[in-house]
Amino acid sequence: MPINDKLAMHGGAQVRTAPFTRWPIYGAEEERRLLATLHSGQWGRLSGSQVAEFEQRFAALHGCRHGIAVVNGTVSLRVALMAAGIQANDEVIVPPYTFLATATAVVEANAVPVFADIDLATFNLDPVAVAAAITPRTRAIIVVHMAGQPAELAAILAIAKQHHLVVIEDAAHAHGAMYDGRGMGSVGHLGSFSFQSSKNLTSGEGGIVATNDDDLAASCRSIQNCGRIAGGLWYEHHVMSANYRLGEFQGAVLNAQLDRLEEQTITRDRNGQYLAARLREIPGIHPQVRTAATTRHSYHLFLFRIDSAAFGVARPAILQALAAEGIPVSGGYALPLYRQPLFLNRAFGPYLPEIRQSLDYASVRCTNCETICAHEGAWLEQSLFLGPRSDMDDIARAFEKVYCQRHALAGGTA
Ligand SMILES: Cc1ncc(COP(=O)(O)O)c(C=O)c1O
Repeated sequence: MPINDKLAMHGGAQVRTAPFTRWPIYGAEEERRLLATLHSGQWGRLSGSQVAEFEQRFAALHGCRHGIAVVNGTVSLRVALMAAGIQANDEVIVPPYTFLATATAVVEANAVPVFADIDLATFNLDPVAVAAAITPRTRAIIVVHMAGQPAELAAILAIAKQHHLVVIEDAAHAHGAMYDGRGMGSVGHLGSFSFQSSKNLTSGEGGIVATNDDDLAASCRSIQNCGRIAGGLWYEHHVMSANYRLGEFQGAVLNAQLDRLEEQTITRDRNGQYLAARLREIPGIHPQVRTAATTRHSYHLFLFRIDSAAFGVARPAILQALAAEGIPVSGGYALPLYRQPLFLNRAFGPYLPEIRQSLDYASVRCTNCETICAHEGAWLEQSLFLGPRSDMDDIARAFEKVYCQRHALAGGTA
């Protein structure tokens, strides 16, 4: 590994000058389907065929009998929670290292997010912390398949069974990932996916709930469609609900994108595993540990921890040096969700009016999440993993170079 070149941030040559794979990827099939939809005049889900076709194909690919497409991945969580029967002031256990929506969807369901810590090595919910967070008011657990690595589902489902809890898989990062050979959404009671622009499958905005439970599926379908029921009158509305339906143009794009998902997921997983093996060799760099049950990681993000003491330089300087070498890298979520002003100030709008004063998020402590947010966490985005292996070699070389030149880095402790 010895690399004696001067760091790019100090005027040396960049390791990587060519752009990585651009996202989104699209082609003739997107154009064909979009134009066909345009000319059909059937632009809404109720009369068109694109969303219906996509729901069926996407669910099947994930081993689910049902897919209910909605406007985004926040709404899909909300619909899943409502279908699960979550009531006002119920508690739902969530991880703190995730996008805001995992927890705010709970508030929007008028329920209380209870944060349980993640595992330092896998970045996923720690089943021991989940068990410790259960109270008589707990009704559900939302696991996040963080970065595209399936959560510890066997252990969490066992806890859920014991306490009669619903398990919702927030699979916003995990299109095409597999847990013991099973697709996401097919292991817990309900799975929720996002098709927002950055996601591994995208139509700009969009989401879906996937499930194998016929009753939950009927409930989701009704909530997504203004409380209507199969066989009911058009203006007959049975439950609190809304129009959460996805439009046909997005369905058209998603059908075309879906044709590529399998191949892209295999490529990301292959490249991600290769890069992890390379980076593990560098002192102080700890890529997300792959669990034995992870048959396939979708690498929406390539997560890693930086042990500054072992590397010899603090995280900000390392990330800055990598960026200067041409590697787009992020420090990840800067705050555990419970440290967001929204939670500290209990700024819940009209939700949880009676009990909000009793909710003290300032005293929550999830120490692994805090360490990751404040000092150690970092990630690379999914589109970097769609190129050839030589792209991984460039990324690895940039890390190696920064490590070899750590003494020259400003803020270095070595
Ligand atoms: C883990 C997680 N859950 C939920 C969401 C919400 O999805 P959306 O942005 O489509 O509402 C996101 C996405 O941004 C996410 O990363």
